[in-house]
Amino acid sequence: NNMFAERVGPEHGFTREEITALSDKVEEAHNNIKQAKPGFMDLPYEQTEIVREIKEFAAKKQGEFDNFVVLGIGGSALGNIALQTALNDPYYNYRNDKRGGCCRLFVPDNVDPVRFKSLLETLDLKKTVFNVISKSGGTAETMSQYLIARKAVAEVVGEDKVEKHFIATTSANSGYLIEISKREDFKTFYIPDNVGGRFSVLTPVGLVSAAFCGIDIEELLAGAAYMDKLCQSSDLWQNPAYLNGVLQYMSYKEGKPLSVMMPYAHALKDMADWYRQLWAESLGKEVDREGNVINVGPTPIKALGATDQHSQVQLYTEGPFDKVITFLEVEDYGVEIEIPAVYQDIQGVSYLGGHTLNELIRTEKNATELALSKRGRLNSTIILPEVNEFTMGQLIYMLELQTALVGELFNINAFNQPGVELGKHYTYGVLGREGYDDKKQEYDERPKK
Ligand code: PA5
Repeated sequence: NNMFAERVGPEHGFTREEITALSDKVEEAHNNIKQAKPGFMDLPYEQTEIVREIKEFAAKKQGEFDNFVVLGIGGSALGNIALQTALNDPYYNYRNDKRGGCCRLFVPDNVDPVRFKSLLETLDLKKTVFNVISKSGGTAETMSQYLIARKAVAEVVGEDKVEKHFIATTSANSGYLIEISKREDFKTFYIPDNVGGRFSVLTPVGLVSAAFCGIDIEELLAGAAYMDKLCQSSDLWQNPAYLNGVLQYMSYKEGKPLSVMMPYAHALKDMADWYRQLWAESLGKEVDREGNVINVGPTPIKALGATDQHSQVQLYTEGPFDKVITFLEVEDYGVEIEIPAVYQDIQGVSYLGGHTLNELIRTEKNATELALSKRGRLNSTIILPEVNEFTMGQLIYMLELQTALVGELFNINAFNQPGVELGKHYTYGVLGREGYDDKKQEYDERPKK
């Protein structure tokens, strides 16, 4: 990976000296991270046994099923989608020739009734396995999906065979999903207690569906371990996660609260979505560690090059000076498509002939970068030599560590989500879950429209 930042105008952007001035703060943050050792940092190293178990299980079950459905939401779904989009063919679900006998993947991460009904009607439930993923084991969306899917499966295969069609991925020690999975005798995978939902893609949360879809999960973890090695230094100029984190932090402090991630590869489109949750839920906080109200947090935005050049880039280039753009660039797409040379007499079209789509998308990225820089808009680029399991493992780990660093720089807890929990608790109260009566009362007394 390479990245760069340059001063692009007299009043926007940073000099090397200004960036280096944060070294002491980064050193302190580095020491805090080393001491706290968030759970995601162990994942590249401590999963040999679980990887073996997942691979054996997927290999054994693969032939029995055509479809793998993830029932989960937020951190229990977005990583699965991101890995699938990055590492499998864009039309994987529709192309037997691209699946090598592996399952199709579906992640209906919502409780929209139209979509969920249609999915259950579309799938041959006799050939479908569901992975119910919930760390807390009680999230209303996921548990509702599970209850509906279980009923549908039981109707098709009979009560005695339900157990074969469900996997549970949850905390070993808490929540209702573990209780249900024991009662039902489901195959169960565990999410380590010290790994939060949005940091859990490299646990069984993301690894099980990846293995069922032919993704090399050992390479993913090897990539993450490699990035961890690259990120040992407390010197921000020697640590890619810290450098990018510092650039983001400084941008925020300089009055750029909007942080756009813009990959120039369809494969990375859903990585931007995964990152959007990581960044928003980790860094959007009301209070600092001492309890002072600070209402801090950059707003992450996803965009896709070149598509969003025709939707967003006008705003990014000429609108308010409130954004920092992170491009994701891919050097080798693995395929090359030449644009045919025809209509020689129509110069406005014929100039394209003989070039490749690869040249076109690369040029579009460079042109957008130049246009932004010319107008003094902060941007940096993360370059992936290619998109594969190893580089995805690297990117995931780098962005997670970057998030932990920026949490330290803001002096907040990047690993909790009290705002998300509050919304969950109102829903539990209204729907009658025991222990949430006060939330129901607050809800009922809310100002009426
Ligand atoms: O990052 C988080 O903690 C959240 O986004 C959760 O992943 C999400 O709310 C789903 O929670 P759970 O896995 O407990 O069902």
